[in-house]
Amino acid sequence: MKKQSIVIAGGGSTFTPGIVLMLLENLDRFPIRQIKFYDNDEERQNTVADACEVIIKEKAPDIQFVKTTDPEEGFSDVDFVMAHIRVGKYKMREMDEKIPLKYDVVGQETCGPGGMSYGMRSIGGVLELIDYMEEYSPDAWMLNYSNPAAIVAEATRKLRPNARILNICDMPISIENLMVKILGMNSRKDLNVRYYGLNHFGWWTSITDKEGNDLMPALKQHVSENGYAVNFDDSGQHVDSSWQDTFKKVKDVYALDPDTLPNTYLKYYMYPQDEVAKADPTYTRANEVMDGREKHVFGECRKIAANQTTEGSTLEIDEHASYIVDLARAIAYNTGERMLLIVENKGAIANFDDTAMVEVPCIVGSNGPEPITQGEIPRFQKGLMEQQVAVEKLVVEAWEEGSRQKLWQALTLSRTVPNGRVAEELMEELIEANGEFWPVMN
Ligand code: NAD
Ligand code: G6P
Ligand code: MN
Repeated sequence: MKKQSIVIAGGGSTFTPGIVLMLLENLDRFPIRQIKFYDNDEERQNTVADACEVIIKEKAPDIQFVKTTDPEEGFSDVDFVMAHIRVGKYKMREMDEKIPLKYDVVGQETCGPGGMSYGMRSIGGVLELIDYMEEYSPDAWMLNYSNPAAIVAEATRKLRPNARILNICDMPISIENLMVKILGMNSRKDLNVRYYGLNHFGWWTSITDKEGNDLMPALKQHVSENGYAVNFDDSGQHVDSSWQDTFKKVKDVYALDPDTLPNTYLKYYMYPQDEVAKADPTYTRANEVMDGREKHVFGECRKIAANQTTEGSTLEIDEHASYIVDLARAIAYNTGERMLLIVENKGAIANFDDTAMVEVPCIVGSNGPEPITQGEIPRFQKGLMEQQVAVEKLVVEAWEEGSRQKLWQALTLSRTVPNGRVAEELMEELIEANGEFWPVMN
């Protein structure tokens, strides 16, 4: 197997150490000769990089390690760009969540006005990464999980149509891990699923085991009572109590269409007022993450760097992120793995916009993803998705054209915003808060 060279863009991300540990754990499946970190915040990246350098020296001293803020150094001689940037960092996530709540509107990182605000910041950042990749390593592939993935994917489809970028989300993976627990099975890989939707906006229509046995009835029974909540003894990403509430709320989302099993994020569109009522407008998920994951990860990184050893460290392998290895392997070694990806529809959902970026199962090989057709979808989902995809496309047009008018339309069209007046007030406040992170809005 050819040894790979990768750059992690957003080297200073809270997820970087878990991903590095996961890559090191999977070297037999995905051998690596070089890991580079690239970030535009040198200090933040250094904290993570200085620890990861120690980790790599301990576990795989043959791997060359580079940290840089120079695009040429970062993007030269790489096979994969693993991109997880957050333009504006947690400070702006906090704004995205808190500003809408002032108007009794959902305040969320990727859904509703917060997601649009984040999208208007992310598009430029991700396009820049693509341009660096194309300049310095034109044969490389970008595996992108920078959010808001739906808007970012639409922007790259439209503005970099030939880019070798794959957009992926871990929410379905986390949910499938819960399904496996609900069913008392061992691995997500024992499930065969059919699924369709937009990113953070989709539904499972079929789940079988490898023998073809239908697992939906048992899952539906559980979800109708508990959502995706299971008794937890777990560590990892989606374990905070706010995530537990989200898994429980799936019960109400499921009730709207008992033929399918929903993505957790649909709660923001189906029950926005319930989410607003639950939220604390002075302490949102961004605060939880800054006080929780960020403190923990950066604290552990500082310890590792100071002691020059990982002994006693509580940093954990992000086992659930092994899907990133599966995806990179599929491209590198043509494995034909079946995975949910965000791709241009082109008929995969028969009765839906061909140019929409949809989330569907794909067979992935060295030439990229081949979407598996999901047939026609029912009126309920089609109506919701048409409205939501229009929001996402309008945001991208608003970014391209610097158009207030289109952003106002996008905000007004979102199920999370009650009317045009609130949309306009919110927009003006978001423009103000985002400053230079957004294009000039006319
Ligand atoms: P974080 O703020 O800890 O890390 C992001 C890093 O990106 C920071 O170090 C920041 O300096 C850097 N950055 C920002 N703009 C940049 C630019 N233009 N160029 C280079 N680097 C830049 O954030 P986090 O919570 O660790 O999340 C990272 C990203 O991963 C976010 O976009 C998040 O939404 C996303 N994410 C996606 C999924 C998914 O399912 N797709 C899952 C988890 C996280
Ligand atoms: C899920 C979603 C991601 C999102 C993350 C937020 O994994 O799929 O798109 O970024 O949740 O998690 P956080 O812990 O940062 O709120
Ligand atoms: Mn996601």
